This record gives sequence, structure tokens and C-alpha cells, in this order.
Amino acid sequence: MNRTLVIVKPDAVERGLVGEVLARLERRQLRLVAAELRLIDLATARRHYAEHEGKPFIEGVIALLTRSPALVAIVEGPGETWKVVRAMIGATNPAEAAPGTIRGDLAVDMSQNVIHGSDSAESAQREIAIFFPHLA
Ligand code: PPS
Repeated sequence: MNRTLVIVKPDAVERGLVGEVLARLERRQLRLVAAELRLIDLATARRHYAEHEGKPFIEGVIALLTRSPALVAIVEGPGETWKVVRAMIGATNPAEAAPGTIRGDLAVDMSQNVIHGSDSAESAQREIAIFFPHLA
């Protein structure tokens, strides 16, 4: 079994979409290993998005992640779980995300794109260590 990190971002929590997003992952037979509603502090958000430091969108993405509680979770499944989750999430820009994907069904605005999923097995490991060090 392989694990990946998922963050249901504050915009989705504010809209009451946590159940919808988790239900989609669970229906796909991904198992929740950990889940916590958490107000992510600035330092943790910067660590999480460290590879994007200096990019033009960094302040926007940090502001979204820290503005109100997010649901931080680890999900587990067979095979390349991070890839399965990323396919379910859809394109980064919700306006370009295919219908049937989480962003394609639930979002339209790049600055409010509902969910984060790790983008590789290495990222999953790194991000799980940031948010759930006792499970890394
Ligand atoms: S890159 O440069 O291609 O690696 O960047 P990308 O993967 O497209 O985006 C990295 C993360 O930044 C988020 N992002 C934004 N958030 C808010 N507003 C704007 N304009 C914006 N542009 C990019 C994007 O959703 C990625 O975060 P996660 O949490 O992984 O979705």
C-alpha cells in the first residue's frame, strides 16, 4: 500500500465540501489513514510550498492555504496512489479541469482550487513528514 498527502483547502472547507471530496476518494477505494481539520500556520505553508518560493503565485497560494482551517489527510491505496489522486483532482486551473474531476466539478477559479495532492511519491513522503511526522 502506498500513501499520499491530500489537503482539502480552506475554500472547500468554507463551502462545506469536505464530505464530498472525501467521499469521492473513499468511493475510489482509497483508505483514509489520517485526517485532521487544522489551521495551517505561515511557516508550515511556506515549508509545504518551498519548491515554489519566488514564483509569482506563491503569495496567493500561501494566502489560500492559511486563511482558515484546512482538512489535511493521508490516503492509502495500491499502486501509485499519488497519481490516482492527482488524476481525480484534475488540472491545476479549474477552468481547464475535465468534468468528472474534483476541480472540474467543484471549482472554476485558480485562486480557489479546492484541493492539493502530492505530485510524486517523493513529494508524498516529504509532505506527510511535514503534516504528520509521527506517521512518516
Ligand atoms: S508549477 O510552477 O507548474 O510547478 O506550479 P503549479 O504546479 O502550476 O502550481 C503550484 C501550486 O500553486 C498553486 N497555484 C495557485 N494558487 C493560487 N492562485 C494562483 N494564481 C495559483 N497558481 C498556482 C497550484 O494550485 C499549486 O498548488 P497545489 O496546492 O499543489 O494545487
